[in-house]
Amino acid sequence: MLKMMGRLCFAHKTALAPMVRVGTLPMRLLALDYGADIVYCEELIDIKMAQCERVVNDVLETVDFVAPDERVMFRTCSKEKGRVVFQMGTADPERALVVAKLVENDVAAVDVNMGCPKEYSTKGGMGSALLSDPEKIEAILSTLVNGISKPVTCKIRILPTLEDTVNLVKRIEKTGVAAIAVHGRMKEERPRHPVHCDYIQAVAESVSIPVIANGGSSDIVKTFEDIEKFRAAAGASSVMLARAAMWNPSIFRQQGALSVEEVMEDYIRYAVRYDNNPFNTKYCLCQMLRDRVESPFGKRLHAAQTNEEICEVFGMTDFYNKTKAELEARKAALQTNGDQTEQPTHEDDLITMPVRFERRDYPPQITPKMYLLEWSRKEKLDQPVYETEQRTQDRAFQSTVIIDNKKYRSALWEKSKKFAEQAAAIVCLRTLGLPEGRIGEEHSGLVNKRKRDDKKCAALDDSESAARKRHTSEVPQEEEEEMICRTKVVNGVCGQTTR
Ligand SMILES: Cc1cc2nc3c(=O)[nH]c(=O)nc-3n(C[C@H](O)[C@H](O)[C@H](O)COP(=O)(O)O)c2cc1C
Repeated sequence: MLKMMGRLCFAHKTALAPMVRVGTLPMRLLALDYGADIVYCEELIDIKMAQCERVVNDVLETVDFVAPDERVMFRTCSKEKGRVVFQMGTADPERALVVAKLVENDVAAVDVNMGCPKEYSTKGGMGSALLSDPEKIEAILSTLVNGISKPVTCKIRILPTLEDTVNLVKRIEKTGVAAIAVHGRMKEERPRHPVHCDYIQAVAESVSIPVIANGGSSDIVKTFEDIEKFRAAAGASSVMLARAAMWNPSIFRQQGALSVEEVMEDYIRYAVRYDNNPFNTKYCLCQMLRDRVESPFGKRLHAAQTNEEICEVFGMTDFYNKTKAELEARKAALQTNGDQTEQPTHEDDLITMPVRFERRDYPPQITPKMYLLEWSRKEKLDQPVYETEQRTQDRAFQSTVIIDNKKYRSALWEKSKKFAEQAAAIVCLRTLGLPEGRIGEEHSGLVNKRKRDDKKCAALDDSESAARKRHTSEVPQEEEEEMICRTKVVNGVCGQTTR
């Protein structure tokens, strides 16, 4: 019973349908503002999502799921909390669960796409390919229902016969899903074909969970009132709109739709506020322009490369500058406060802090690890030992540095082992109130000593120094010299690093 409390309910709702490229944060927020009850994100593929790291973006006030190449795959914020459904493309129950668990606390429900007929989906066994593999459907949905605390739903297309469609949804209902969205077309049918309301109705009559009717955009739903007509014609509990909302999301507005011009400006405000990818912004605006995309205005929009240029096209430069200035100010304030508010957490002999190693905060030849090593020498302690773990779900790293019988670790996971070690060193240095070599930090005297040591080391082995020059990495060359020097000077005793 507790598990049910506060859960998103899918009965008697209107929803923004999942749409690749369209269903990103600005469009979802806009649809909610205009009156949609639930918003689905674009389909995100499990393999790509599984590699993402969850990052709290304090400047934008969002939670971002960031791929190893730094692309934000999914961005969400508190404005849509409780109403955003994460749609996933998957053909693998275990991988689906890994992704569902990754996003579970930031979304209201998880949906599995079982309707996409495009080859890129079906060839991997995803999308509508699942419709002919009910065992796989059951495995995926049951694994998710049993594995996460949020509601699980799926979106299907209808099968060639009514009987097969009804049998399939009955099997789906038994997995414990909270609702089923039914796109009333078969996988071979195109958007121009009429939607089969009779199939959706038969499905709705055969199950007791809410059925969400979908597919009515072009032939039935043209105004807000038509949403109810479609719902009644399909005998469904709820309605989900894709194209009608993509063309003008104010279709969800009870008081009547707004002009596309007004809607585009509202869209741009969210796109700038949440730093939306400009190509995505442009794509969504072009969908709203529809056949005017070839007009002189459409061409100017098409030529824009950044959100700033898009704002120029719409005469919104002042808004752009003001919003950017606000975001910059928040960033600056966070940086100042961050320095003061980072408090270490102590647990037995382990001390943690949420810190990240930002390469740009340190001069090219300086790293926190170097500072920690210097300090250990000065204090006549054993050298710091770094132990690193790699997480399987996203291959991120977390290091613990052990020094003076204490362990220090950053609570945040890093995308490289070297950065994770630097972050651990920062935790140790900040906890002990020691300098770490950051730009603008008060001079500690350690750097001078460091330079003297480096000169000594540089003289040791010319051939090794030549080899070093060939080697490039994200950690300064000087630190690598440090390791090599230490190996030589301290007779092979090197900061031991394990995974
Ligand atoms: C641009 C676009 C992208 C879409 N992407 C997805 C998607 O990511 N996941 C999905 O289940 N369906 C996707 N669809 C299908 C829609 O969700 C919906 O099932 C279909 O358009 C029929 O609904 P409509 O008549 O309201 O447009 C997409 C449709 C469009 C037009």
